[in-house]
Amino acid sequence: MSQTAHPFDMIIIGASGDLARRKLVPALFNLHQYGALPEGRIFAVARNYDDPEGYLAKLRDSSEEQLGTSFDAEHWPDFISRLKTSVVDATEKKSWSMVANALKKHPDRIRVFYLATPPSLYGDISQTLSEAGLVTGTTRIVLEKPIGSDLQSAEDINRRVGEFFEEPQIYRIDHYLGKETVQNLMALRFSNALFEPLWRSQHIDHVQITVAETLGMEGRGDYYDQAGALRDMVQNHLLQLLCLTAMEPPARLDQDAIRTEKIKVLKSLRPMGIEDVKRKTVRAQYRPGVVEGKEVEGFHQEKNIDRKSTTETFVAVKAEIENWRWAGVPFYLRTGKRMGHRVSEIIIQFKTVPHLLFEDQANRLQDNRLVIRLQPDESIKLWLMIKKPGSKIVLKRTHLNLNMADTYEGRRPPLAYERLLMDVIRGNATLFMHRDEVEEAWRWVEPILQGWEELGTRPRIYSAGSWGPAESIALMVRDEREWLEHLV
Ligand code: BG6
Repeated sequence: MSQTAHPFDMIIIGASGDLARRKLVPALFNLHQYGALPEGRIFAVARNYDDPEGYLAKLRDSSEEQLGTSFDAEHWPDFISRLKTSVVDATEKKSWSMVANALKKHPDRIRVFYLATPPSLYGDISQTLSEAGLVTGTTRIVLEKPIGSDLQSAEDINRRVGEFFEEPQIYRIDHYLGKETVQNLMALRFSNALFEPLWRSQHIDHVQITVAETLGMEGRGDYYDQAGALRDMVQNHLLQLLCLTAMEPPARLDQDAIRTEKIKVLKSLRPMGIEDVKRKTVRAQYRPGVVEGKEVEGFHQEKNIDRKSTTETFVAVKAEIENWRWAGVPFYLRTGKRMGHRVSEIIIQFKTVPHLLFEDQANRLQDNRLVIRLQPDESIKLWLMIKKPGSKIVLKRTHLNLNMADTYEGRRPPLAYERLLMDVIRGNATLFMHRDEVEEAWRWVEPILQGWEELGTRPRIYSAGSWGPAESIALMVRDEREWLEHLV
């Protein structure tokens, strides 16, 4: 990455929040300490800072926490000299005057407004930025997910923001698309002759996508109680993973071609009627339990959570794609807070061999499986059957393992936000979502939300530190399958 190209000014709106602290500032600092952040300034603006003096110290602590041993304290003072904090009410034109004066010094720079605020403010903030004269020809606006809380609100936001910014200026971020292994999924699929012929219903039994977190609310109760796991994770991250797994090869590696293929997948998702919601979805909430050896409280005891809240912290869904490639291949999606381990992976489970040659070994035979792991470690494993050494034929399961840390020893993969923030600065929108994608995803998700409401059932429960409620296991057992986390 060139340091000299693309001088920029980035204005993080909502800088006192969790996202700026936990993800954005550590990513920017990491780029800075590796000399990869172009010349430029960062304006951290917030309506108020609970503890203005302690704010920078908090940013340092969380950068250190996120980056671990890669955090080099020597670079921190220099980084902080590039960051200015300002108290701004982003929906008040007058409130912008100081930042506006500072921005005027470099009117030609790439200007990036990063909206790390509740999505309900995106329209008003866009309008204010425009009226305050802050939107130049080189301005880009980044919208964090979730865009809206249902289809209608997503359309409203897209329309309002669209009144003040052209579509190419709008970067809708889904940080899962910036993860190294997610991009590797495309490389794996589209640059190996091996997989494409197998990547279809004739050879694949089903696909599992799991994003399990050990974290609870982390002080985000206010937001999360309104959102829940379906809006927070499934509508965006999990559906994006599904799209990249299921899409047809794009004609080119550019944003339009990829987006077109992803939208086709979203449009092919079998709509969820009320019966589907009843049979193919599970929602649940965690109760107190033990996560990684530590006792933790239940969802209802967390700060800013309504004691009677019915918001789900876990979802499992059986999704079906109605097209030639995927007919009859279910995609099981699952995500939850406070689960047993932090793990995100996509598992492609292949079908059983058509004829059993080693009949006496039938009970040992296990189907091939491709496991694409996004975190905590990044790896791609292909499970195969081989013969154990010895005079008799005894089958054994083993795997080919492409572990990124071992393969690229000493090479640090960029954090998802590093990659994406640099893409915004460079003007590369390939890994960002178009408004049509966001709206299409809502179109599939919304009936699930409505179905839960209509059915009026309460969320199931699971103990913190477990793998979700019994009903999630039942969802698989009914199809004579099982979740594979403990097997890989
Ligand atoms: C965010 C969600 O988009 O993704 C959070 O709002 C979640 O609730 C986070 O914790 C997970 O991201 P990652 O990169 O830690 O898996």
